[in-house]
Amino acid sequence: MQIKNICCIGAGYVGGPTMAVIALKCPHINVTVVDANPDKIKAWNGPLKSLPVYEPGLAQVVKEARGRNLFFSEDIPGNIEKAEMIFMAVNTPTKTEGEGAGMAADLKYIEACARDIAKYSKSDKIVIEKSTLPIRTAEKIKEILQENSTDIHFEILSNPEFLAEGTAIQDLFKSDRVLIGGDKTESGLKAVKTLVDIYANWIPKEKILTTNVWSSELAKLASNAMLGQRISSINSLSALCEKTGANIDELSKAIGMDHRIGPHFLKASVGFGGSCFQKDILNLVYLCKYYGLDEVAEYWDQVVKINDYQKDRFAQKIIDHFGGDLTGKTIGILGWAFKANTNDTRESPAIYVTKKLVNHGAQIKIFDPLVSSSTIIKDLEDYNINKDACLICSDIDECIDAVELIAILTETPLYKDLGKEVPIFDGRGINKKAQFTIGK
Ligand code: NAD
Ligand code: UGA
Repeated sequence: MQIKNICCIGAGYVGGPTMAVIALKCPHINVTVVDANPDKIKAWNGPLKSLPVYEPGLAQVVKEARGRNLFFSEDIPGNIEKAEMIFMAVNTPTKTEGEGAGMAADLKYIEACARDIAKYSKSDKIVIEKSTLPIRTAEKIKEILQENSTDIHFEILSNPEFLAEGTAIQDLFKSDRVLIGGDKTESGLKAVKTLVDIYANWIPKEKILTTNVWSSELAKLASNAMLGQRISSINSLSALCEKTGANIDELSKAIGMDHRIGPHFLKASVGFGGSCFQKDILNLVYLCKYYGLDEVAEYWDQVVKINDYQKDRFAQKIIDHFGGDLTGKTIGILGWAFKANTNDTRESPAIYVTKKLVNHGAQIKIFDPLVSSSTIIKDLEDYNINKDACLICSDIDECIDAVELIAILTETPLYKDLGKEVPIFDGRGINKKAQFTIGK
């Protein structure tokens, strides 16, 4: 099938950057990103300095491709109809109610997408799972598509995304691998080849891996689980280092120099955040339970438990420093996002740490160079944190002025060389003058 028009449903952290890069690398294909949220589409069409997603290098890619063959549109029906290939890149958060609440992925957005595709399609389509989904979701999507539209052929592929926020553009330009899962039928193999040909415009062929649909869906959850497991493993050891005099950075280096282990993802921290590790590991746990594999579920659940322990432990260190009572104490929180170089605050450890400190009576000042005050206010509201106890600062000096302690929550370079007037508690191991550093 000749692809002239791609439509991507979901203009978020994945849909926006991935489609911008496909458009940049495939000038012969029109790529249109649609979203149910018109404000987001307006922002994608607005000034480059206020795109809805902050990613180093993204504005440059958008600048080059937008209006040429990259479009952001509110017209979902029209763009579904026009496209031969449709990516579904909508959010799949943890369910908050019903069966599997607190663990399983909520598939309501992906199901709504499938219903829209069935409703507005007038010709055959290749439908691609870009969102991270539980294994065997393609079956459900096929059901929805076929139920609602009988005379059109839909070929479903799984093509999970492995980019990390903060390095998305670099990750998309030079992916470790691109994974494409499809059915081993004639039409399935054809669809896989069509998608391989698109990526082959810039990804070396040997890095494009094709599998069956189920392996591809599960490989995404498994990859995130393995990455999260490494962080929880090193974080669990950071607690032992603090008790024994071992140094976590030295430990990471010594362990990671074994080429069978490798040096990446062994940086101890205040805990992993972000929209995916916790959600995807909990989803894996749920799936294992669903299939009756209780021991396997238990094993992966421990990765999330250690992460909760690490966030809690860091906040407790601060509380202990003040003898258990934070009344009348003001603490400066540096970093609100879940890591440096992103404006994304989903599941950020800073939120959990702040909540615990506020609950113990502290006044909080918050600074993050990339996160807007409206996002911080929304987080405080969503997590029931007393807003009156929190002051959002527009510069770092304001945040560290007249505080009794500074807590570093992201690895933003700006926090590296801070002085020593008040104790610094470093959750990222970047500040040499810190009084307390995770794992030391
Ligand atoms: P996001 O919340 O940033 O974006 C999702 C977008 O989809 C939102 O703008 C929302 O308005 C839109 N949407 C939801 N339902 C819709 C519908 N029915 N029709 C049209 N638009 C709809 O989410 P994200 O971070 O981009 O993640 C998307 C998926 O990709 C998730 O499954 C996630 O697990 C996965 N993923 C995320 C990352 C990451 O770094 N954020 C990396 C790899 C994979
Ligand atoms: C992660 C994966 O790295 C991506 O491959 C995947 O596509 C994505 O999840 C997803 O599915 O959403 P992301 O969450 O954006 O990407 O960012 P990471 O760089 O993985 O960081 C996650 C968290 O782990 C951050 O809070 C980070 O600070 C923390 N981390 C990371 C550590 O504490 N130590 C490390 O050594 C590495």
